[in-house]
Amino acid sequence: MDKKSVIAVCGKGGVGKTVVSALLSRALSDAGAYPLLLIDADPAGGLASAIGERSFQTMASVRDRLIASAKSGKKSDTAAICDQVDYLVFETLLEREKYSLLAMGHSAEKGCFCPANNLLRGAIDLISASFIVTLIDAEAGIEQIKRDVTKSVNRILVVVDGSQRSIATLRLIADLVDGEQVCAIGNRIEADEIDSVIEGIQIIGTIPQDQTVLAYDRKGRSLWELPAENEALNKAKRIAGALFGATVK
Ligand SMILES: Nc1ncnc2c1ncn2[C@@H]1O[C@H](COP(=O)(O)OP(=O)(O)OP(=O)(O)O)[C@@H](O)[C@H]1O
Ligand SMILES: [Mg+2]
Repeated sequence: MDKKSVIAVCGKGGVGKTVVSALLSRALSDAGAYPLLLIDADPAGGLASAIGERSFQTMASVRDRLIASAKSGKKSDTAAICDQVDYLVFETLLEREKYSLLAMGHSAEKGCFCPANNLLRGAIDLISASFIVTLIDAEAGIEQIKRDVTKSVNRILVVVDGSQRSIATLRLIADLVDGEQVCAIGNRIEADEIDSVIEGIQIIGTIPQDQTVLAYDRKGRSLWELPAENEALNKAKRIAGALFGATVK
């Protein structure tokens, strides 16, 4: 793979974006995607916990702390840095052996969610260039796409589960962005239960309903610990292969 890939996993609420992101991240890592950046862009949190991270800071929590210390007058220079994306990214980025993780989180400040998508856009612009693959577990719906957060994203994967509502979201996303960037993934569905092209968008793969995935998720166990023979994981590996060819090194 020669070009750096920035991939956003999008779709209707509850359709399986976080599970698909977690499976794909493991599949990509197993295929040699390194350095790999994972961005948990759901303010409610998703990907970080799905891959077993328990203790981490978020861009929003770091920023809130800076604002609090500026308000209490502890450090007069704090207010100036609370919107500096490079500082926030540097403070927040969690570096692991196989991936780096950036969790966006949400601000405790009321009425303060407007900077969140600006910070996310800035963060993607700032650090994705240092990684061969960036994978973003996006917020449900189309808000982040409408707010141009995904501007520097070169691949949008829309998860659909075959329901009309998930397909309506696919249609909305396809209308908002350049069609060439978009492809769809069927989740909780077998390949023969879904058309290979929906709304003119190619379905690049499907991931079945998987009891082990469900059990791990319910127990809060990392989806990176799934056994190598797990079918959902192997379907995610096929999707990674379809996206990048045999190797992502
Ligand atoms: N392929 C699958 N097999 C079994 N369970 C699944 C699968 N995909 C998703 N689930 C289950 O469905 C639920 C919703 O999945 P997930 O959290 O990934 O959706 P989401 O699109 O990220 O939701 P949100 O919009 O709230 O972020 C979870 O309980 C998850 O364990
Ligand atoms: Mg999610």
